[in-house]
Amino acid sequence: MQTTWWQSETVYQIYPRSFFDSNGDGIGDIAGITSRLDYLQRLGIGLLWLSPIFKSPMDDNGYDISDYQAIAPEFGSFDDFDELLSEARKRDIGILLDLVVNHTSDEHVWFQEARKSRDNPFRDYYVWRDPTDKGGLPNQLNSDFGGPAWTFESATGQYYFHQFSHRQPDLNWENADMRRDIYGMMNWWLDKGIAGFRMDVIDRIGKQVDEGVTTDGPHLHDYLQEMHRETLAGRDVLTVGEAWSATPGSALLYTGRARNELSMIFQFEHVTQQWDKVYGKWKPKPFDLVGLKSVLGKWQMALSDDGWNSLFWGNHDLPRAVSRYGDAAGFHRESATMLATALHFLKGTPFVYQGEEIGMTNAAFSSIDQYKDIETLNMHRLHVEAGRSSEEFIAGANQNGRDNARTPMQWSAAPNGGFTTGVPWIETNPNFLRINAETEMGDERSIWNHYRRLIELRKRHPIMVHGAFQSYLDQHPKLFVYTRRLGDERIVVMANFSADIVTATLPTELSTQGRTLITNYEPRERLEGNIEMKPYEAFALLEETLVAVADDNKAESALPAELTKALEPQA
Ligand code: GLC
Ligand code: CA
Repeated sequence: MQTTWWQSETVYQIYPRSFFDSNGDGIGDIAGITSRLDYLQRLGIGLLWLSPIFKSPMDDNGYDISDYQAIAPEFGSFDDFDELLSEARKRDIGILLDLVVNHTSDEHVWFQEARKSRDNPFRDYYVWRDPTDKGGLPNQLNSDFGGPAWTFESATGQYYFHQFSHRQPDLNWENADMRRDIYGMMNWWLDKGIAGFRMDVIDRIGKQVDEGVTTDGPHLHDYLQEMHRETLAGRDVLTVGEAWSATPGSALLYTGRARNELSMIFQFEHVTQQWDKVYGKWKPKPFDLVGLKSVLGKWQMALSDDGWNSLFWGNHDLPRAVSRYGDAAGFHRESATMLATALHFLKGTPFVYQGEEIGMTNAAFSSIDQYKDIETLNMHRLHVEAGRSSEEFIAGANQNGRDNARTPMQWSAAPNGGFTTGVPWIETNPNFLRINAETEMGDERSIWNHYRRLIELRKRHPIMVHGAFQSYLDQHPKLFVYTRRLGDERIVVMANFSADIVTATLPTELSTQGRTLITNYEPRERLEGNIEMKPYEAFALLEETLVAVADDNKAESALPAELTKALEPQA
């Protein structure tokens, strides 16, 4: 069994705009990230994924890049970035950058050139089509942010294609010069010593618009193999591709070890499985555990021998995990720690989205004016035009909208949660008085300390990394039960996804005794017959035969003074 270093690491995603503002302009920045590295090191984080930090008009908060080799001025300078990289390296933390190469900003010089004339050398870096004979749209493809995926440029009489906002024109991956320029840019960053890339909507780069194909185009994997040859080969880096269209079958194409494409992908089946069939994420839907378990279990089994899973509940496009899958009001600590336990014992590399480790909750905005996200604002307009009420739309946005994850990180009980001394670009969640990093770090039983233990357990127990997964009680509507097995080691994981006390009869194979590696209630020593699970209780029990000496649950010393200091806002 071969271990790759990133299999036992935990990745932490930073949304720079909302993480920590070092200069009081209300926008998080790179120097702010550097000032929090001690916090991340103490949590045990091995890698940071930074959402885009590049120069951008910020139509989609940086996912619209106007210069891949420049830093957005609101986030800082190259000196700030180099400082972050070297300070992170001192703490053994690698930096993953967000590679957004399905599209650029309309302000990118390539697009500025391309739109000038039909014979401009950069014209073919993008996707242009003539109007139909009647002067209409080339076809019916729609943008993910609402409306047609085509925008007309009268100067040259053609439409250009964009799967997101009209300010995010799609790159044409059929153009070999464009691909060469992208690879050059990737090598330039890799040579600086970054630890890899998260690849934005990578399943879409092989689009074939004339066939109506957006994801999984016929040349997608050729491009990824070429990219690997030209940039990643020979470098020990981590790559994770965002692939909303992924199935277990395609995941093996992206991540199969012999294929030389990516280390892992983000699949979203466990996310979309919880969405409304008609309105998608814009309509609340009750949580369905049996469905969730069947999706997670399917992915565990499919990538058990080849390929590799990423594990995540949240990111900057998704709601807060404790609000979506737990009970933020009634059982905040219990449900947040339960979710962490249920996820981190699965096979794969866990990703923690900023604030998840302290149980940050959804935003609970009541008026559309509080939202900033381009997708939410566009969709609100379209749904209201189509006859839905604004209130009804907001109920859906409150459950699943992207801004839920984008409110400022809550560092302390200081104004604005200690995120900024100025006016934050998006409203802080008023619950920062109760939910903040300072309080969490000082409490032995907190969500934060639970995450810290989980991250540490993964480094200490190879079974958490490599053990085979098997699920039990698949049809149980409230309990998620599974085991991991490696050699003669076995871990039993049980999680109650409900606010009820649940009594269940365990299958005889699960009768065992051992040592609790982690729990959010009292440790257990024996599993047998009927088991009673407290509200949102979760534990992992390591079978006795192989007990190691160390006590993983032992209390840690109080917060060291230098850390308390590191948490104070620095203006
Ligand atoms: C990805 C990003 C999302 C962005 C979109 C377009 O889905 O995660 O935030 O809006 O791509 O780049
Ligand atoms: Ca700032």
